[in-house]
Amino acid sequence: MNNDILKVLYSTEQIDEACKRLGKQIQKVYADKVPVVIGVLKGATFFMSDIVRQADTYMEIDFIDVSSYHGTTQSSGKVDLVTDISTDVSGRDVLIIEDIVDTGRTLKFLMDNLTKRGARSIKVCTLLDKPAGRQLEANSDFIGFEVPNEFVVGYGLDYDEKYRNLPYIGVLKPEIYTNN
Ligand code: PRP
Ligand code: MN
Ligand code: MG
Repeated sequence: MNNDILKVLYSTEQIDEACKRLGKQIQKVYADKVPVVIGVLKGATFFMSDIVRQADTYMEIDFIDVSSYHGTTQSSGKVDLVTDISTDVSGRDVLIIEDIVDTGRTLKFLMDNLTKRGARSIKVCTLLDKPAGRQLEANSDFIGFEVPNEFVVGYGLDYDEKYRNLPYIGVLKPEIYTNN
């Protein structure tokens, strides 16, 4: 285990199971549609690639890069659109894939943005939901795990751009971010 990790919250096996479970739910809901599945960079990178391969249904994929934590453990309160999707979502069924919903600001930004562009329906699949962090109403349709109010990293989630490549999700030792 990485030396900066206090404890593992979800193992590789638990993440795999969640992807299978959520993938099947998505497969059912979109059985007669061709959704545009949008992965939110960078955090949702691995979850996106794992989950779409568990949903045996027609779909298009795209990516959007938004950022608001900027190397800290606290949301800046402002969501920056770094790189946009290339798909026209007007009249389309959109499925947003997130790694975590915390304050809800990123999700609110994305929902507002995609609604303005005329998406026909928008659903959200997040691997982790942290209700205790919520500052804006933001609900997901497919949820992997409800997480405690701790700063988590791994499987796409970062602190200061590190730890994304850990194959599990864990809690960072507090001294890693309090000493910086
Ligand atoms: C993180 C995470 C979610 C968002 C959730 O992204 O990946 O997208 O924050 O937090 P919120 O609910 O408080 O908005 P971040 O802005 O750190 O960018 P990243 O995915 O590139 O790490
Ligand atoms: Mn993110
Ligand atoms: Mg981040």
